[in-house]
Amino acid sequence: MRAVDLIQKKRDGHALSKEEIDWLLEGYVDGSVPDYQMAALAMAIYFKGMDTREISDLTMAMVASGDQVDLSTIPSIKVDKHSTGGVGDKVTLILAPLVASFGVSVAKMSGRGLGHTGGTLDKLESIKGFQVEIPEADFIQQVQEIGVSVIGQSDQLVKADKLLYALRDVTATVDIIPLIASSVMSKKIAAGADAILLDVTVGQGAFMKTIEEARELATTMVNLGKAVGRETVAVVTDMSQPLGRAIGNRLELLEAIEILRGQGRSDITNFVSELGQMLLALAGVEKSLEEVRSHLENGLALAKFEEMVVAQGGDLEDLYRPVQVQEVYEVKAPVSGYITELPALYYGLFAMKLGAGRAVKTDPLDFETGLVFEKKVGDRVEVGQVLARIYANSEIPKVMLEEFLENVKIGKEEVEIQEIIEIVR
Ligand code: URA
Repeated sequence: MRAVDLIQKKRDGHALSKEEIDWLLEGYVDGSVPDYQMAALAMAIYFKGMDTREISDLTMAMVASGDQVDLSTIPSIKVDKHSTGGVGDKVTLILAPLVASFGVSVAKMSGRGLGHTGGTLDKLESIKGFQVEIPEADFIQQVQEIGVSVIGQSDQLVKADKLLYALRDVTATVDIIPLIASSVMSKKIAAGADAILLDVTVGQGAFMKTIEEARELATTMVNLGKAVGRETVAVVTDMSQPLGRAIGNRLELLEAIEILRGQGRSDITNFVSELGQMLLALAGVEKSLEEVRSHLENGLALAKFEEMVVAQGGDLEDLYRPVQVQEVYEVKAPVSGYITELPALYYGLFAMKLGAGRAVKTDPLDFETGLVFEKKVGDRVEVGQVLARIYANSEIPKVMLEEFLENVKIGKEEVEIQEIIEIVR
């Protein structure tokens, strides 16, 4: 086979066979298919798409490109969760210990943030001493002993995705369903959990901009999971505004603790509780929403989180330390009314510019900086009330502060918000 012929085949709108997909992926990982040909193929897929069979073959070829985690020594059902990316998304920090506090094992491999989206590993690393790179055997032992571990993905897992994702990132080929579905599901399948909950974000701050696209991505991924015997459910969730109050690594960790203590905003608390209920159900544990929420109020979920922090080398005193920044700016409402828009993409990029995120993979992070919203879409605000606080370690130019305020839209009518838009089974 020649890569050029296969690129041309896809460019002209034909389906690639399983043998052709396997050959391309093997060649890409061993270096015989160079980046420039893989980039051309990704662009051809971007424009011509892939059918269901091709997406499934691509996913399994990605799985075969690296090691697979064997969780079979953990006797109970193991659950995993994945989000397609968002702003202020601290869900894993709460959901993993919450579900584990009901005795269901959570073995989770997470990622780092890039661009306007944050990453769970960076948030955990804002705790002094917390280790995200631990050997697979220790990860499995920790899940056996305390029921939960969140670590970084090993270099040996889905090698093709590591290469391909970096390539897609710089060739404008990230936001396309066949490539997102195969990237996410290959990692979930290789990571070994029996049941998977997928959070497919939709809206201005997400890869999927419309409900129709998000539904198609969700359905594609659910079918991929089921085809290999994994219980898989997807929720399509709103990412038009940031999730919860905080954006920024330590600020999000502190918000997660607030929710784990039962003192978070009711919208995000309910959202995480609903996801918890679904994840528990996937493991065969049926609980009412009140029962799930009770573990946020009685300290059981927080105690499980503390256990995980200690097991992974984190310092419990540092866990509760407030952020340390040079400047805190207050942004106040210029008029009274209801918040109608808080564009997630804009505020994700704003936090990135404060040092809370990376423009490129090698950028260092400032764990302390970020934003905390006192008001969210749907909330009533009075003139002069604080809308948000900006935590910075450098002076913010006036024009940036003005733009921050211009992006908060305040109207006369109250708007309804819905975190979970749809469930795809
Ligand atoms: N998250 C992933 O892991 N892969 C993608 O392609 C997009 C989001």
